[in-house]
Amino acid sequence: MTVTIRAAAPDDAPALGEVMVAAWLSTHHGQMPDEAWRKRVAEWTPEVSARGWAQVLSEQSGRDVPIDVLLVAEDDEGRPVGLVYAREGDDASASTAEITALYVASGRRGEGCGSALLRTAATELIRLGCTRARLQVLSANLLARGFYEHLGGREVGQGWFDEDGQLLPVTYYEWACEQLAVRTTSPEDQPGRSA
Ligand SMILES: CC(C)(COP(=O)(O)OP(=O)(O)OC[C@H]1O[C@@H](n2cnc3c(N)ncnc32)[C@H](O)[C@@H]1OP(=O)(O)O)[C@@H](O)C(=O)NCCC(=O)NCCS
Repeated sequence: MTVTIRAAAPDDAPALGEVMVAAWLSTHHGQMPDEAWRKRVAEWTPEVSARGWAQVLSEQSGRDVPIDVLLVAEDDEGRPVGLVYAREGDDASASTAEITALYVASGRRGEGCGSALLRTAATELIRLGCTRARLQVLSANLLARGFYEHLGGREVGQGWFDEDGQLLPVTYYEWACEQLAVRTTSPEDQPGRSA
């Protein structure tokens, strides 16, 4: 089965909410205190997440100069099965992008979706003028850390993620966008390429 990477469109918001919440909850169960995880289950529904993505997409469409990248991995029946979101850093470090979400549906992992999403996002970030990309991952998320290291991510520090008052250890990874980006310049490398 092939997967296509493309820019998200406004009507993707509900599907992005479904993918994000299902993948987040299944991944992080056991990586945080149970109480914090249960609070997420109770409060962070696909509809809540979808409203957040709708807001991101609405802000994107209102900007003359793009500052962020939201890509969808779509299966051959047009269903979103993964997403990546990245945006320029703050004013002081606009050239270093923050990748704030990378999630692939649990049934579609290990097929190249995650790497295609990340590499295509890096290609798009270069177009925005970003030279580096960084992200934080729960330190307990060993599978994702192995994936980032496999893709050449450099561990650059440790910190904490505030999950509604519970401080969870995180690890930071960083790449040069050029190193991570899709390497050739053929039209197949634009969003819309197949993984
Ligand atoms: C982490 C995640 C995005 C990776 O996406 P994926 O589609 O499963 O990964 P891919 O199939 O693209 O893997 C790409 C390469 O990484 C390798 N890889 C994947 N996980 C690995 C691991 N834990 N250790 C070493 N290598 C790994 C694969 O073998 C593959 O190698 P190859 O290209 O040389 O064949 C996905 O598994 C996911 O959504 N996980 C749950 C959510 C999550 O943890 N997100 C990150 C939050 S910060």
